[in-house]
Amino acid sequence: MDITPLSPGFGARITGMRLDGALSSDALNELRSIIDTYSLLHFPNQDMTDDRQLAFTQLLGSPEAEHVTFGTTGQVTYFGTVGNIKDDGTVADATNARYQSGNQLWHSDSSFRETPSYVSILHAYEVPEEGGDTEFVSMRTAYERLSQKEKEEVDPLFVLHDYVFSRSPIAPVNPNHAASLPPVMHPLVRINPNTRAKNLYIGSHARSIVGFTGIESRALLDRLLVLTTKAEFILTHRWTPGDTVIWDNRCTLHRGTGYDAARWRRRLRQTRVVGNEKGVIPQAR
Ligand code: OGA
Ligand code: MN
Repeated sequence: MDITPLSPGFGARITGMRLDGALSSDALNELRSIIDTYSLLHFPNQDMTDDRQLAFTQLLGSPEAEHVTFGTTGQVTYFGTVGNIKDDGTVADATNARYQSGNQLWHSDSSFRETPSYVSILHAYEVPEEGGDTEFVSMRTAYERLSQKEKEEVDPLFVLHDYVFSRSPIAPVNPNHAASLPPVMHPLVRINPNTRAKNLYIGSHARSIVGFTGIESRALLDRLLVLTTKAEFILTHRWTPGDTVIWDNRCTLHRGTGYDAARWRRRLRQTRVVGNEKGVIPQAR
């Protein structure tokens, strides 16, 4: 495995590792360790298929059920399609583009779930010639940049994450889907269990801070988001077909940059691995 760091403390390009179900346990341990270190990994030229991607995903942990399909129909599927191409290969309509545009807000995948995701694995099959990039920021380096006073202010806080809050301004949320995702409480500052590094855990699904008024909540959450997503801290991934990108949802935020969906085809396939830290659903306790 060859590792080329992309920025200080965040992001790396990895060659010499084939991501499929045949990965050795040594390679897997090394992969887990570089996820902890770099948070964002780019593997160019992967000869990927859905079967390989799912087998690889299962090596890292439990695949996450795709929440839109599960919430609306009760069926468990493991792939999310990112972009504008339907399963039958045809181009999706403007409604799809509207729903997908929620991904253009900074977020951590599944932060709204009781057990949020560990990593997302996204493989590119078709990409636009213009736009359609994905941007990433590290919430660990963001935490490190806070002053001691700011760290002490955020360390003890808890945040409600709520999919209906973040997504209903974008497009209506199906009632079954909404009912499957009650707001959930997570610490504002997470600690990596292996490295003990702290990071902020915010993003578009972060609705309010427990014990704060709405105005105080939004003021702090919005201020933290502005501080952490300044242009100088962003790593932009410009997709090439064959790229597989893995990111650590525990300690990064990402967003799509948008593209002309009427002009270009964009098809990426996403799987996620379930994390092992559980939040609290207040009304269920
Ligand atoms: C994702 C995501 C945004 C994009 O894959 O989880 O938010 O359009 N993608 O690249
Ligand atoms: Mn996402």
